[in-house]
Amino acid sequence: SASDKGTYPYYMLKEIDEQPNVMRKLVKKYFDADGNMNVGCGLMDNILDSDRIYIVGAGTSYHAGLVGKELMEKYTGIPTEVHVSSEFAYEEPLLPKKPFFIFLTQSGETADSREVLVNVNKQHFPSLTITNVANSTLSREATYTMLLNAGPEISVASTKAYTAQIAIQAILAKAVGMRGNRQVAKDFDLGRQLGLVATGMQSIVEEKDKIDEIAKKYFVNAKQAFYIGRGVDYTVSLEAALKLKEISYVHAEGFASGELKHGTIALIEKGTPVIGIITQKKTAGLTHSNLEETAARGANALTIVRQSLAQDGDTFVIPDVDELLTPLLSVIPAQLIAYYTSLNKGLNVDRPRNLAKSVTVE
Ligand code: G6P
Repeated sequence: SASDKGTYPYYMLKEIDEQPNVMRKLVKKYFDADGNMNVGCGLMDNILDSDRIYIVGAGTSYHAGLVGKELMEKYTGIPTEVHVSSEFAYEEPLLPKKPFFIFLTQSGETADSREVLVNVNKQHFPSLTITNVANSTLSREATYTMLLNAGPEISVASTKAYTAQIAIQAILAKAVGMRGNRQVAKDFDLGRQLGLVATGMQSIVEEKDKIDEIAKKYFVNAKQAFYIGRGVDYTVSLEAALKLKEISYVHAEGFASGELKHGTIALIEKGTPVIGIITQKKTAGLTHSNLEETAARGANALTIVRQSLAQDGDTFVIPDVDELLTPLLSVIPAQLIAYYTSLNKGLNVDRPRNLAKSVTVE
C-alpha cells in the first residue's frame, strides 16, 4: 500500500524517492491534454480580485511559502507576503482592504495555522488551503482547497510535501496569471518544466551514494553546518538547514550569503561545512565568492549548483530548469545530506527526538 515502506529502511528515503512521481501526478491532475489548467474559476477570480496575498504556514510549509511568494508575485503581479503562522496569529499585521489568504499545511491540522484561519474567517476574508489531506480541519474551514496528491507522508521530516507545495503554488500562480491575461504567465511553459523537474529529480536521487559519501566525510562529525544562498537559494538554505537540524541534530542555519560578512562569518571554524546553493544567474558569482571567503577562514566549502552556472571544483551539480523552479531540485541533495547524516549517526531517521509530525497545540 501507499503507506508501506517496502524495502526501504526508512520512510524518509522512500518519500524522497517518490518526488519525481509526485511531480508527474500533479502535471496529470492540473493540466489536460490541450494544456488547459484545472484550477477553479471562483478561486482564480477571488485571487485576482485581491490587493495582497498572504501565505501562512509553519515549519517546512512556511519555507515552501517563501518560494511561493516569488512565484505568485511574478506570475500574478499581486504583492505577496509570507508569514509564520504562530507569529501571525497574535501579531496580525495591518491588512489591506482585500487580502487573500493561502494556508500551506501538509497535515491540514496544525493548530498555529488554524488559529490564523479562524481569525481570517471571522473577518470574512477568502482563503485557500493547500494540503495533503482531504477533509482535514484547515481544508474544511477554508473557502477553497487544493490537494497536494503527494500520498501519505509518514516521516516526521517533510520532503515530498515541500516540493509538492512549491509545484502547486507554481500551478496556481500560472493559472491566475493567465486568467488575468498576463503575458509572462502565458509564456511560462509550466507543464513541460515540471516534466523536466521530474527527470532532474530522478537523476539526483540516483546519485545517493555520492551524497552518502559527502555526509560521512563532512557532516557526521560536524558540530555545526551552514547553508548559504541569495533569493530563492536563501529560502532553500533555510529548509536545508531545518532538515539537518531535525533529524541529525547537527546545529545548522541557513544564511543570506551577503549577510555573512555582517556578523555570522565569525562562526566559521576549521572544518565547518558551508554549502552554497547556487542556481540564480544574477547572484551566482556573488555566492561563489562569499563561499570562498568562508573557505579562506577554514570552512569546508561545498556547493549545490545549477549546471549552467557550475565551475571547476563544484561539489554537486543539478540539472537546469526554470530559475524559479530550481528549489524543486536544489533541495533534494540537502534532504539526502540530512538523511545520510542521521543514518550514519545511527539515529532514528523517521522519529527524531522532541518532534511530532502534526502539532495540534499552539
Ligand atoms: C511539524 C512538522 C513539520 C511541519 C510542520 C507544519 O512541526 O514536524 O515537518 O513542517 O509541523 O506542518 P503542516 O502539516 O502544517 O505542514
